[in-house]
This record gives sequence, structure tokens and C-alpha cells, in this order.
Amino acid sequence: MKVKKLAYALGAEVLDVDMTRPLAAGAVAEIRAAWMEHLVVVIRGQDITPEQHIAFSRNFGELELHHNKYNRHADFPELYVVTNKPLDGRPSDTRNVGRQWHSDGAYKLVPSLGSLLYSREIPPVGGDTLFTNMYMAYDTLSPAMQAVLLQLSAINDRGVATNNEHVDASRVAERVKAAPPVVNPVVRTHPETGRKALYVSPNVTTCIEGMTRAESRSLLAFLFEHSVRQEFIFRHHWQVHDMVMWDNRCTMHMAPADYDLTQPRYMVRTTIAGTPLGRLYEGK
Ligand code: OGA
Ligand code: MN
Repeated sequence: MKVKKLAYALGAEVLDVDMTRPLAAGAVAEIRAAWMEHLVVVIRGQDITPEQHIAFSRNFGELELHHNKYNRHADFPELYVVTNKPLDGRPSDTRNVGRQWHSDGAYKLVPSLGSLLYSREIPPVGGDTLFTNMYMAYDTLSPAMQAVLLQLSAINDRGVATNNEHVDASRVAERVKAAPPVVNPVVRTHPETGRKALYVSPNVTTCIEGMTRAESRSLLAFLFEHSVRQEFIFRHHWQVHDMVMWDNRCTMHMAPADYDLTQPRYMVRTTIAGTPLGRLYEGK
């Protein structure tokens, strides 16, 4: 297997993988090692069925069913559909997913470990996905700031995500009920690499616990800006049949609306379940 770096900060292409067949244990270990080292792994040219996508993903852990049942694939609940194509004659709830920087599932008690997004249809140009390295974001802070952040937790609330604007109010209420606000550490230690990563998500992180709104606003604004400095970023230009897997414990991603939204974009995602991190938010 060959591994080719795709950007300075993160992202690597793994070559010589065939997802139409079961992977040998050694191959799984090699991909996982590349994933932990490069944070985002791209595997191109995989003409696969939903069953093969699911089987490949299971090599990396238990799969989550997306909490939002409306966006699950009709026949394969392990697949979350991200598309701008109307579903059942109504605009897709996921047509603007990921417009803000985020880590998947940061608003849950058990945030998602990783996500594997596969492209079935992409627009002629654009429709890219950007990734940022949150180890680098942490490592490049001053020791004084690092010491402060290590003491802090933040409130993550699904109810404030901008994607809610494109979804019926009743469906948003259902989502928030299923995932009420949580308190998570601002810096997390990656369980596999032992490295520290900044862990705030502009789409859901509303406040630093225990701070006033004003204090919190300034600090979060700085952390959000710092997290997505150009030199921490890898930008993926999709081809049809790309599989892109990212580690939500040490990266964020976003999907700019950098394409003709009338052109179909159809992606399917599996999600690897993580381990418990924070606690429920008891405040108001
Ligand atoms: C996701 C997501 C981005 C994209 O699937 O978690 O944020 O490019 N998608 O579709
Ligand atoms: Mn996402």
C-alpha cells in the first residue's frame, strides 16, 4: 500500500485499496496507521455498493445510526445521506450540511470517532470539503493559553447550528430533544495518539462553562479564527467514487457552497461511534 501526502497540515491518499473485497487484517492496520498519522485519508476510484461501504467502515469500529432518522438511507440505516437532491418530493434537509466548521457529533455525550464520506454524484466544479488539523491548532498556541484552555469546558448545543435554518422547526425540536446540550472539554487528549487537540466547534459551541457571555464570546471568537488558519487546512476536490475518512477527535471540516447548487451532489456517510466524553449541561 502506498501513502501519498496531499497537503502540509493533514490529508493523505492511500493507494492500492480495493473495497469490493474484504480487507486483510494487515491492510486494515496500515490504513488505520495512515489515518492516525494524517488525520484524513482519501481512497479514490472505489465503485462500491452500500453493503461494501458499510463493510469497509466496520473495519474501523462500531457504526452509529445517525440520530436524525429523516436523513438515513431508506434501505441502509447505517448510511447518512448528504445531498441537495430533493427526497420524497421535498427539499433535502441535508442540502446545506456542513456550511460551518465542525466536528461531527460534538454536541453528543458520545461524539463520533470518525466519518467515512463517499461521493456518488458531484457537480462539474466545486462542492469541495475542507479539513483543519486541531492538533496543530493546539500546538501553535502559547504555553500560557494552552494552560488556561486545559482547565476549560464548553457548552455544545445542537439547537444553534445554522443547518437548522433549512429544516422544519418541528424536526429541529426533535433533534435537540434527542441530543440536549452537553459540556465537553475545550482540549481533548486523543485516546490513540496521546496528542492534545483543540475541541471547539463553531457550529455548536455556544459558551465557555462558568464564563460570562462577554468573556466567552471573545475567547471563542479567537479560538474559532485560530483553528482554521490557512496553514492548518487541507481542501479536498471530489471525484466520483472517492472515499474520504476523517478523525473527528482531532479535525474539523466544512463544506462551502462553492458550486452551482442546482447541480446534483449526492454523498453517503457512515459514522464510527466514539467513546463517552462530556456530560449533560445542567444550566439553563
Ligand atoms: C458530513 C459533512 C460535508 C460535505 O458529512 O459530516 O459535514 O462535504 N459533509 O458534504
Ligand atoms: Mn460533518
